[in-house]
Amino acid sequence: MDKKIFIIGCGPGTKDLITLRGKKVIKEADLIVGSRRLIADFAGKGGAKTIVLENNYQKAIEDVDRLKGDKRIVFLVSGDPLFHSLGERIIERFGMESCEVIPGVSSFQYAFCQLKESWKDYRVFSIHGDKGMDIGKIFKENDKFILLLDPEHNLKFIKRQIGAIIGGKYRFYVASNLSMPTEKISGISFADFDNSPEESLSIMIVRREDE
Ligand SMILES: C[S@@+](CC[C@H](N)C(=O)[O-])C[C@H]1O[C@@H](n2cnc3c(N)ncnc32)[C@H](O)[C@@H]1O
Repeated sequence: MDKKIFIIGCGPGTKDLITLRGKKVIKEADLIVGSRRLIADFAGKGGAKTIVLENNYQKAIEDVDRLKGDKRIVFLVSGDPLFHSLGERIIERFGMESCEVIPGVSSFQYAFCQLKESWKDYRVFSIHGDKGMDIGKIFKENDKFILLLDPEHNLKFIKRQIGAIIGGKYRFYVASNLSMPTEKISGISFADFDNSPEESLSIMIVRREDE
């Protein structure tokens, strides 16, 4: 291992969707940083030190900087590390030369495999943490798109933002807790956006159909 910082995409959730390379690097790590779930699921009971990420990103990064020396550091991130992920910030902080990024299966890739549909014509947007996206504009400009949600920025939020669906017939799917025992992928009508249960991990797939 030449690089000192490894950013590993752990996939959407289930333990068997991480890559063999990711698993090998985790085994050889001295320090592993990630959410409690990712550390429990992917770092197991190895001998590496761990830092749990829970709204303490800045402090965790400073701790890594202080401890790193010649240690092999691993950051575990969900899905793919360069798709709406901490991966980018870690590379920005430690520099491209020091980082190696190991890809992972993204939430939306997994969802499309379950639907057995190609995602090649879809655009992807995230309202996770809001980011001030103009959702009405996304609807106006795209016939096929994916939105990453969070418990606050959910279907109710989308309905509040756009008010009503104008111009077209849509098909909506919500995919939650993908690859986990509680996985659910279901079609939903715009009218039912108000009654949809709020799962913390969800994406929405939107397709405008021919009239
Ligand atoms: C910070 S983003 C990380 C995205 C991740 N890097 C990826 O490639 O999927 C977190 C958002 O991804 C989506 N997500 C991640 N894992 C998911 C899962 N297992 N099921 C459904 N959505 C998921 C949710 O929209 C969640 O709020």
